[in-house]
Amino acid sequence: MADEGRAEPPTMTTDTSSPRSRARKAAAPAAPAPELRIRTVKAGDLPAVVALDATVTGLHKAAYWQRVFRRYGINGQGQRHFLVAVLDERVCGFAIGEVRDWEFGAPPCGWLFAIDVVPSARQQGVGGRLLAELAQRFRREGVHTLRTMTASDNSLIQSFFRSQGMRAGHLLPLEMDIEAEAPPPAAAGRPRR
Ligand SMILES: CC(C)(COP(=O)(O)OP(=O)(O)OC[C@H]1O[C@@H](n2cnc3c(N)ncnc32)[C@H](O)[C@@H]1OP(=O)(O)O)[C@@H](O)C(=O)NCCC(=O)NCCS
Repeated sequence: MADEGRAEPPTMTTDTSSPRSRARKAAAPAAPAPELRIRTVKAGDLPAVVALDATVTGLHKAAYWQRVFRRYGINGQGQRHFLVAVLDERVCGFAIGEVRDWEFGAPPCGWLFAIDVVPSARQQGVGGRLLAELAQRFRREGVHTLRTMTASDNSLIQSFFRSQGMRAGHLLPLEMDIEAEAPPPAAAGRPRR
């Protein structure tokens, strides 16, 4: 129960500014939260993209990203998309995808190749907004399916994709080790029994 007769104890404060400056601060409207924008990549975004990729892969691949930019950025309008998320004038994420026709015997569909969000901006909806914008662009091109592939041990990206509604599809990735040389012709040409 509150003791109504007792005066309120003084509030502890570390603000040493003058009463007038404190009053001004109290009256100032709160700064609006910075708006997240998703847009097509520009050449000036590349250093930020290279740096962001390096935080995830540990590799600084400037030449690789120049090639990706030429293919999906400059020449990508239409079926190829290289999107960046921008918060407070800074690139904080990117996503890259493309519509591919009749690959693996499947009707045209949108493929997501890469998605990354700066660690300090994660779990605030940036990845979801990038994926939603990519899906929207694919939809405008008339495709109804979005596909991707993930490393089987990357549980973070799998949690993210599941949260966005992605589920295991009907395509099965297969691979083989081709580092070893092909078998010698004699062995290769031996008649089968
Ligand atoms: C995966 C990644 C893109 C997600 O970006 P993000 O901006 O954090 O994603 P969102 O904030 O939109 O998260 C949406 C949902 O994803 C799931 N999710 C995101 N981060 C998660 C985490 N660390 N653990 C579990 N689930 C997570 C949640 O369900 C989340 O919804 P919620 O916030 O309501 O819980 C980002 O973590 C990233 O860049 N990871 C490393 C990059 C990578 O491995 N890329 C793969 C190579 S292509």
